[in-house]
Amino acid sequence: MNATTPSHTTHEASEDARNNDIKIYVNGEIVHRDEAKVSVYDSGFMLGDGMWEGLRLYNGKWAFFDEHMDRFFNSCKTVSLDVGMTKEEILDALNRTAAANGMTTDVHCRLMCTRGKKDKPFQHPGLSRSGPTVVMILEHSKPVDSLQSAGIRLATVAQVRGLPTSQDPKLNSHSKLNCIIACLQAEAAGADEALMLDPHGFVNTTNACNFFIVRRGEVWTSTGDYCMNGITRQKVIDLCRANDIPVFEKNFSLYEAYGADEAFLTGTFGAQTPVASIDGKTIGNGERPMIQRIRQLYKELIQRETGGN
Ligand SMILES: Cc1ncc(COP(=O)(O)O)c(C=O)c1O
Repeated sequence: MNATTPSHTTHEASEDARNNDIKIYVNGEIVHRDEAKVSVYDSGFMLGDGMWEGLRLYNGKWAFFDEHMDRFFNSCKTVSLDVGMTKEEILDALNRTAAANGMTTDVHCRLMCTRGKKDKPFQHPGLSRSGPTVVMILEHSKPVDSLQSAGIRLATVAQVRGLPTSQDPKLNSHSKLNCIIACLQAEAAGADEALMLDPHGFVNTTNACNFFIVRRGEVWTSTGDYCMNGITRQKVIDLCRANDIPVFEKNFSLYEAYGADEAFLTGTFGAQTPVASIDGKTIGNGERPMIQRIRQLYKELIQRETGGN
């Protein structure tokens, strides 16, 4: 590890004391965080049996709400999880929770839905007879500035994000154990976050974000077959296409990643976060013109989407 580079997680937010007193939505009620509780019999706690979404509120509007809901309801349908709420009801609950907290912008929400409370502490989904459990945690949240200046250090790890036949990597499931194992492996290697390969050894994704490289003026990302179908990932691809930036979803190996001019991560929280190094090898020469251009385009997109100035 480079002793002069501070360690980061990609989801490092500035400290905000207001978050000590936030109100949280739990199954229709909006209560102080100290009162926000679910049962120890809950399917999410016991088994990681649930789905979630990370959304951001800017200028009083949830960015890319329809895209988030498409993914959420698709994930829930895949595992026969009845959300028990419509998309409109979720929006209403999100807005009511934001209002109860006096929140309008720079807010991050973790929306969670589990199969609910189980009758017995065993695995069978049929034992979850009083579900679902729906929780919305909204926090004041701004990525720390140093994420942009210092960038993230990645380490390639043994853990892969794998085939749809084991656990489809497109499922935003409560159980993040696969990703957590990858993150622990990266930490043990002295890095901030894990660069995960696909089952064939091609560069795939990180444990919490999607991964892009920039080579000779082109933007590359993985095929998308083995990673989260990230909403920010898709927005970046769409922005490149709309602005004549060559963009490719393709197989590539560490050879091309190490030799990239720039590399960055995408996710709802951090938008686009530069990568400083991979396996101790510095990426590029420290100049990041493509990342800066894409970040600006994305900022403008958020402004158009949420009606901000
Ligand atoms: C493993 C993983 N990859 C990528 C992402 C980024 O997705 P998005 O851009 O929709 O936030 C997430 C976020 O949930 C994730 O968990």
